[in-house]
Amino acid sequence: MATFTKIADNETPSITLDPTHTISKIDDNIYGGFCEHIGRCIYGGIYEPGHASADKDGFRTDVLEALRELNIPVVRYPGGNFVASYHWMDGIGPVDKRPKRQELAWLTTESNEFGTDEFMKWCEVLGTEPYMCLNMGTGTLDEALNWLEYCNSSDDTFYANLRRKHGREEPYNVKYWALGNEVWGPWQVAEMTKEDYAKTAKQWSKVMKFMDPSIKLILCGQTGTTSWDAHVIKECINWDPAAFRAGTWAPLIDMVSIHIYTAAGEHYPNATAPRSAERAIQVTAALIDLARIENGVPSNIPRQTICFDEWNVWSPGRAPPEQGAEELYTLSDALAVAVWLNVFVRQAQFMGMANIAQSVNVISPLMTSAKGVIRQTTWYPLLLFCKYMRGHTVAVNVKSGEYGGNTEPGWIRGAIETPWLDVSAAVSDDGWVSLAVVNIHDERDFSTDLNGVDSKEVQVYTVTGKNTGVVNKEGQEEVGLEESTWNGEGQFSFLKHSFTLLRWKA
Ligand code: AHR
Repeated sequence: MATFTKIADNETPSITLDPTHTISKIDDNIYGGFCEHIGRCIYGGIYEPGHASADKDGFRTDVLEALRELNIPVVRYPGGNFVASYHWMDGIGPVDKRPKRQELAWLTTESNEFGTDEFMKWCEVLGTEPYMCLNMGTGTLDEALNWLEYCNSSDDTFYANLRRKHGREEPYNVKYWALGNEVWGPWQVAEMTKEDYAKTAKQWSKVMKFMDPSIKLILCGQTGTTSWDAHVIKECINWDPAAFRAGTWAPLIDMVSIHIYTAAGEHYPNATAPRSAERAIQVTAALIDLARIENGVPSNIPRQTICFDEWNVWSPGRAPPEQGAEELYTLSDALAVAVWLNVFVRQAQFMGMANIAQSVNVISPLMTSAKGVIRQTTWYPLLLFCKYMRGHTVAVNVKSGEYGGNTEPGWIRGAIETPWLDVSAAVSDDGWVSLAVVNIHDERDFSTDLNGVDSKEVQVYTVTGKNTGVVNKEGQEEVGLEESTWNGEGQFSFLKHSFTLLRWKA
């Protein structure tokens, strides 16, 4: 959480914090990933049997090593839009018997060489948890239940035995399951109305929880600020005594998914665009509370959280999904990603998960080539947040001037502020304080009073570059990570168009 006091541009900015003023736990799952069957994310990204770095399972070890730096807690799979016509049974069993299918989201051919068991194995090798998305387009409730049984059951039943036949005795115990993806979108295979979706989602969630009450179910919201969101949240965040099974009064829904991609051609609208996601989180959280109040959900059922399971900087016009959505990220985009991550830390009290879309090659901070991996500009703020912005969120007051021009979307103006200095803070369980500051100003360094930094040994990590348009390419890294120290005295200067993370032991 951060409060903002607007000052004139010629006044000295300040950032004030007290690490004992914690607000809420930051769920590690906000640093989640996403791997979809699209472009070069799976094939040529995480899985490329012919590649020099591939292990015996065909997993690219250079990609695994890079992703391990992020310590990703959870990865969403297999889509995205792909899932709306995906039949999971096509992707299990002997690979040479798996059917090739025409793929209707991205109009390609899906070989099904990589499927459920391969993904589970990849998650184990990476050291992350799977989050599966159900096909609510051409898929049926039966298929969803069978997939759940295949993944999670230890009983002597057909799909659990099929998993055993395929070489896996122990259940995978997949905890997170999404009830469809962007079911509201006109681009979907079998788009639904909000009324039809709410009715279907309620039935699916009830029966999914009959089969395995330990799972967490994620409802398909839209952007958090639409009538779709209001309707499905009101209908599905409900208290249904008929859902009583196995000694637990299961809440039907545990999280609400929302998706936003931001992008703008000019730097300031680009860097401030993630503020729309901040307002969307606040609006969604209010819709959740409203549903709980109106539906009489007992207070001992934990408040449903937000699962921002697709977020990033992306302009589909610039990087069309049918062509693999390979964005080339600028420094401006890296600053936007830092603002995105500040948003999740500030709004930690409402956040159950967030998944950057996507983990490799497709609108991703990490690209592969024949030679190895390339870390895009956006990799560096993501790395710093994943490493250090964990624990509890700390209350911060920021006094700074504000960008006052056009925003993308336009409704940001009037709904939420757009300060030059975008700030969040966290304190880790072992007492390290981390202060994340994005100076979006393209021309001005800001000498800033830092109130509450009680250390003479402050570690400083800076991400910046020559100008906001610079990009990283293979063999040419314009934006990286600079490390230095600060003695904690006087003002600290936040460089123009930079992201800075300060760390000290409280
Ligand atoms: O991440 C790329 C696509 O963007 C996903 O498949 C879809 O859910 C969204 O529209």
